[in-house]
Amino acid sequence: MLDVMPTVPTQALIGGEWLNAESGRRFDVRDPATGNVIASVSDCGEVETLAAIAAADAALAAWSAEPASGRARILRRWADQMIERADELAWTLTRENGKPLAEARGEVLYGASYLHWFSEEATRVYGDVIPAPGSDRRIIVTKSPVGVCAAITPWNFPNAMLIRKAAAALAAGCTLVAKPAAETPLSALLAARIGMEAGLPAGVFNVVPGTDAAEIGRVLTSSDIVRKLSFTGSTGVGRKLIAQCAPTVKRLSMELGGNAPFIVFDDADLDAALDGLMASKFRNAGQTCVCANRVYVQDGVIGEFAERLAKRVATLNVGPGDRSGTEIGPLISEAAFAKVERMVSDALARGGRVLTGGAKHPAGELFYQPTVIDGVTADMDVMRDEIFGPVAPVAGFATEAEAIQMANETEYGLAAYVYTRDLGRAWRVGDALAHGMVGINEGVLSSPAAPFGGVKQSGFGREGSRYGLDDYLDVKYMLMGGLSA
Ligand code: SIN
Repeated sequence: MLDVMPTVPTQALIGGEWLNAESGRRFDVRDPATGNVIASVSDCGEVETLAAIAAADAALAAWSAEPASGRARILRRWADQMIERADELAWTLTRENGKPLAEARGEVLYGASYLHWFSEEATRVYGDVIPAPGSDRRIIVTKSPVGVCAAITPWNFPNAMLIRKAAAALAAGCTLVAKPAAETPLSALLAARIGMEAGLPAGVFNVVPGTDAAEIGRVLTSSDIVRKLSFTGSTGVGRKLIAQCAPTVKRLSMELGGNAPFIVFDDADLDAALDGLMASKFRNAGQTCVCANRVYVQDGVIGEFAERLAKRVATLNVGPGDRSGTEIGPLISEAAFAKVERMVSDALARGGRVLTGGAKHPAGELFYQPTVIDGVTADMDVMRDEIFGPVAPVAGFATEAEAIQMANETEYGLAAYVYTRDLGRAWRVGDALAHGMVGINEGVLSSPAAPFGGVKQSGFGREGSRYGLDDYLDVKYMLMGGLSA
């Protein structure tokens, strides 16, 4: 592992060149573990975003005309070089996001896995020949890249969320303008530099860092050149972006908020359920869209389960991500910390009981103790909203029907988890859950081979898998006539 901050680009990448914002403005990136400034980055706005869109447009014809095998070769090289430089990328990610180094390294490898996956899928963009209503004709279906795309990516997975969008877009033959979160632009810029070194042609992949997300978002969404926007972030911001894209009728992929139920039935393997919950809930200090938000445990085992959960959670090692053995890092910001504090206070004021944690951790300003609360009810904020922190609220239920009803009682529908050894129940509950992804006896769902995405107000569109590639392809139907002799 490295022990110093690697040299990371701090300018925008536009048309293959590293550029400062024309305004000369820069912004500070801070380490959430210490509050220290770790870099000063070009603060881009309208001018740079328009330039990046123009660069992506100029690069589109050649990139989309490149044979899929050629695009695949570059994506594969990008992945291989990211893996070779995983320590450097992980160190940068931990510094700006706070997650433990081992998790950061895992994220980099996860990001690279999308490049590998889509490099292979790039060569399998099949069309169709369909029998037409008359024998003198054929219906031909071809697929072509959507065009210039935009990606707005979050701070919780600053490498993987960007790379999974870029991998699919570029594999399909699209070009991309990416706006990384202002909290974590360095991972994006370093990944972009590695991509350029791997052979990405100028303009195919552009990155505009900046603090004025509304301004950059406005330019991306109002551009007629940009034909698709892929966004990962909150449902509130997603709604605005959808509205902004309406006048230019863009393709959209929206990976928005979640409120994942984690259901444990009496017949479950409790050891497996505990392992799954620890992995799902406490990854990235609970700051993931798919992490277990509401834990429902059937009445026969809730006492034992909650007690064993609290014991395990109490042993979690909290500290800076670069310290060996750390399992829980800081939250990303003061606002995130205040939200977690507020939600826990709300739960306690309404009758919840802390089994472990429940307060600030002495490791620093943004560290919150891993927490388990039982006796929670549906009206509490921790059950209604995404917590985005290391807090597990546990509630009981009596019947299968009740578990399904409670799990679906949310406007969100991203991920859900079910633990049971009854095969019939696994299918019944899996089918009945109104969520885009369901883990059955599994607490971590992520894979480049699987379609990641939600339903209801968790969004639409899929990332990863062949469905993820389809989201960057337009279908064209041609009717071939005059075939009769
Ligand atoms: C997320 O929760 O935002 C992404 C998590 C993942 O891809 O595993």
